[in-house]
Amino acid sequence: MRKTIVAGNWKMNASKESVNNLIGGLLSGMGGVATEVIVCAPFPYLSQVESLISGSSIMLGAQNLNANPKGAFTGEVSANMIKDFGAQHVIVGHSERRSLYGETSAVVAEKTKAALDADLTPLLCVGESLEERESGNTEAVVEKQINAVINLLGIDAFDGIIIAYEPVWAIGTGLTATPEQAQSVHLFIRNLLAGSNERIAQKTPILYGGSMNAGNAADLMSCSDIDGGLIGGAALKADDFLQICKAG
Ligand code: PGA
Repeated sequence: MRKTIVAGNWKMNASKESVNNLIGGLLSGMGGVATEVIVCAPFPYLSQVESLISGSSIMLGAQNLNANPKGAFTGEVSANMIKDFGAQHVIVGHSERRSLYGETSAVVAEKTKAALDADLTPLLCVGESLEERESGNTEAVVEKQINAVINLLGIDAFDGIIIAYEPVWAIGTGLTATPEQAQSVHLFIRNLLAGSNERIAQKTPILYGGSMNAGNAADLMSCSDIDGGLIGGAALKADDFLQICKAG
């Protein structure tokens, strides 16, 4: 049985005050939440979140990392630095990193490796653009993104990876994939993994992301291959995020 996981991706939205309020709200509403809950905070707030969630079941993640372990990389943050602040997870290959910062699937695979080498669980994001979907290339795009990781690290690496399927056209747009659309890609991903290793395919969590909210979360997460969500906008409000966690 796979666990349901709900992860919040705060993106570049936080202040000391908003973090206090958001985590305070989450902590007071965690009773009755059976899902695994992760919050992915911007780097400067990892320490604050680490202290606030201490002793709770909420887990901490970062949103990016550098693929190198240390050295002359001004402005960058390594996997071990992230771990040093109590994070267990890190998002890799988010579509905003791919499209705005030129991260290729090869770079994403290197970052996935760096995370695993430091015992962090990567939340590996994949997903197609609207143009790619409309031209019938969704599966080919997702397959290429996942194969880049399999080719570098081997299928066994997926023992420690969480996948997030995030159609780019659904991110931050209010246009959620229908449960049928999402389930179909999730099943495709699971079958792709099964082509290399059936056991790993069955145990790998595959989260959906892209305008998931309190209103649509239950329908999406009731699909057999959707194991939770990666939540952007709706993760910034404690009540909304908790409702999504409770829907899982
Ligand atoms: P959204 O973002 O929920 O605001 O669409 C999801 C994501 O980018 O991870």
